[in-house]
Amino acid sequence: MTDINSAKKSIEENGFLNIEIDPTIDLFAEIEKLKKEKNAIILAHYYQEPDIQDVADYIGDSLGLAQQAEKTKADIIVFAGVHFMAETAKILNPSKKVLLPDLKAGCSLSDSAPPALFKLFKDKHPGHKVITYINCSAGIKALSDIICTSSNAQKIVESLPADQPIIFAPDKNLGAYINKQTGRNMVLWNGACMVHEIFSLEKITKLKIRHPHAKVIAHPECEEAVLNVADFIGSTTGLLNFTKKDTATAYIVATETGILHQMQKANPGKTFIPAPPNNSCACNDCPHMKLNTLEKLYLCLKYEMPEIIMDEDLRLAAKKPIDEMLKISAQYGL
Ligand code: 13P
Ligand code: SF4
Repeated sequence: MTDINSAKKSIEENGFLNIEIDPTIDLFAEIEKLKKEKNAIILAHYYQEPDIQDVADYIGDSLGLAQQAEKTKADIIVFAGVHFMAETAKILNPSKKVLLPDLKAGCSLSDSAPPALFKLFKDKHPGHKVITYINCSAGIKALSDIICTSSNAQKIVESLPADQPIIFAPDKNLGAYINKQTGRNMVLWNGACMVHEIFSLEKITKLKIRHPHAKVIAHPECEEAVLNVADFIGSTTGLLNFTKKDTATAYIVATETGILHQMQKANPGKTFIPAPPNNSCACNDCPHMKLNTLEKLYLCLKYEMPEIIMDEDLRLAAKKPIDEMLKISAQYGL
């Protein structure tokens, strides 16, 4: 199976290397060994499963991960996150080998904005600057003026003159939240995150009655009705930092459940209750993020595939608005 052709076939068919692993090996120790041997770094998003977070060299939100990817001196970046995140790492640091344990780890927000349709939308709004949430494909980034993440969106929007017409894409919930915060009237693309739009206000309200002292903390990708009852709204890093500084002892957390691992580690005496979805499924787990497993990560690092490969013209076009975001973020010390 380590034969290069069958490995490539396995990736084409499954999106990942489907190779049996000896069940007796210590994956944590093997991953540490491989990282040293290959001068590799593991960058993980907070929504990854706890085992992956525990082997990561850096865990962060989308902005922090992009900043780390840009400055790393490692030869290999293993990106434990979804495709647009690994692609952003490659855009920013093209001389590195960027690996993604499962190439099928996509994103509903990114999928909601196909470049050809977005181009038509953009053409219908002449004179508008395009601010795009980082959760999008390189094709969409190439059609944008500035990229933003949930932790810098407000500052990025405010960096443009108040009378500048703006298109905000692809997340309508984050866009509506920023419109409310800034008093702007940005034109919104109609996309949403399948995880964050599933939270049930009714169930959160019931939880709040049962835990009256618990604070509701929410990611701005949530719908307005949920954001309206939140005591604090922020990116994943923002939410985590809030729980470290705040004096409450319990929180109802309206974002993907992966973040609870770091919240619990940082605050051993506090209680974290995942906000429930509006049905009985585990829909507050992102099915894309959770495609990555420790086993796939180990194989990806060992065989150095699947790898993110990009067209150079597209990479350069997509890099411009990301550079703009990083420049503005640095000005604000973000
Ligand atoms: P942040 O990493 O900016 O908090 O965004 C969360 C998210 O949904 C990433 O896919
Ligand atoms: Fe995309 Fe939502 Fe999953 Fe983040 S949590 S990767 S926005 S689908």
